[in-house]
Amino acid sequence: MAVQLVVQAFMLLLACELAEAAPPIAKPNCKSRCGNLQIPYPFGIGPDCYLDKWFEIVCKGTGGSAQAFLTSIDKEVRQIIISNNPSTNRFIEPTVQVLVPTIYSEYCKYAGNHGTVNITRSPFHFSPYHNTFISVGCDNSAKIANIFPQIFGCESDCKKDMKVDKEVKCSGFNCCETTNIPSNLQAFDVEFRSRNKSNDEEGGKKSCKYAFLADKEWLEKSKRDPSSVQYWEYVPVVLEWAIFRWNNNSHELFHFLKGRHNVSCSFSEENKDYFYSISCHCATGYKGNPYVDGGCEDINECEDDLLNYCKSKLDCENTEGGYNCDKRKSKLKMVIVGIL
Ligand SMILES: *[C@@H]1O[C@H](CO)[C@@H](O)[C@H](O)[C@H]1NC(C)=O
Ligand SMILES: *[C@@H]1O[C@H](CO)[C@@H](O)[C@H](O)[C@H]1NC(C)=O
Ligand SMILES: *[C@@H]1O[C@H](CO)[C@@H](O)[C@H](O)[C@H]1NC(C)=O
Ligand SMILES: *[C@@H]1O[C@H](CO)[C@@H](O)[C@H](O)[C@H]1NC(C)=O
Repeated sequence: MAVQLVVQAFMLLLACELAEAAPPIAKPNCKSRCGNLQIPYPFGIGPDCYLDKWFEIVCKGTGGSAQAFLTSIDKEVRQIIISNNPSTNRFIEPTVQVLVPTIYSEYCKYAGNHGTVNITRSPFHFSPYHNTFISVGCDNSAKIANIFPQIFGCESDCKKDMKVDKEVKCSGFNCCETTNIPSNLQAFDVEFRSRNKSNDEEGGKKSCKYAFLADKEWLEKSKRDPSSVQYWEYVPVVLEWAIFRWNNNSHELFHFLKGRHNVSCSFSEENKDYFYSISCHCATGYKGNPYVDGGCEDINECEDDLLNYCKSKLDCENTEGGYNCDKRKSKLKMVIVGIL
């Protein structure tokens, strides 16, 4: 009897595990990860695994240390976000986090324009929401270049022997920061000046200045001192992306998405057959990758207290696309029926 029970329990566990096999995130027969990074479609590794060349990932190296490169913009990718996190349920723009080098002024040891990025006409742009602009330098006026007539940037004064450290993080002395970043920015270069005009004219203090855009969340978590950025090789920056009408294969994807259950899409400038860009997520109650067949799976709301409003976990019963709070009541009924 006991053995039988154990066997039954084991079968049940097995069944649960089979049922919980993760839904696909990549196209059939395509690799879904590179190192520790998940690669969800429309991104992909290898022919027919990505939507079009803009979303092609090349995986270099093997095992956990392999690195993913978004070859169309020649940047290493650290994170790919397709859509909402169901537990916060707030809309999250699809993003990728890529590594970009810092931009140095001409009087720096590493002077050069390694950090300039031009991704014009790509489906990516710098996120104005996730990034912050930081410039380090004394008597510095740093502005994002080539966005005339708009002006975005920041200014800092000099203070001798003052390190930019965590407490005085970019206080305006030797370092400045602004989160005011233009929307739809696709080309990033920086123009450095002195605040004191006479210093520029004289060619005055030929001091080194540098600037970069960085993922705000990363900067906060890493607790790095921005003045030490000259020793960092790259800075993670967040790009937002979308699928545009001009992307190859976007029309097929559009028709595939229109017919899908459990997927919710926003089509900018939607018309019967016309759209400018598409952005989708799994419908409420589902999670996963909306862009692949069978990619959205039901969320078990009962397992996450933030996702259900049942008074007790014992009352919570998961259902397809939702949940209800009558579990014990219905069990009770069954028991009563059983007794009768
Ligand atoms: C789009 O398709 C054309 C024709 O097949 C091809 O030449 C071009 O490289 C493709 N572009 C992208 C971005 O994949
Ligand atoms: C970026 O590249 C495009 C061509 O792809 C060019 O027209 C544009 O001027 C460049 N922008 C900057 C700021 O360099
Ligand atoms: C500007 O720089 C010049 C030359 O270094 C200096 O003499 C002057 O006092 C500075 N002006 C201000 C307002 O700091
Ligand atoms: C999605 O929706 C359809 C119909 O609304 C339903 O039959 C199906 O079970 C749902 N769930 C998944 C994971 O596809």
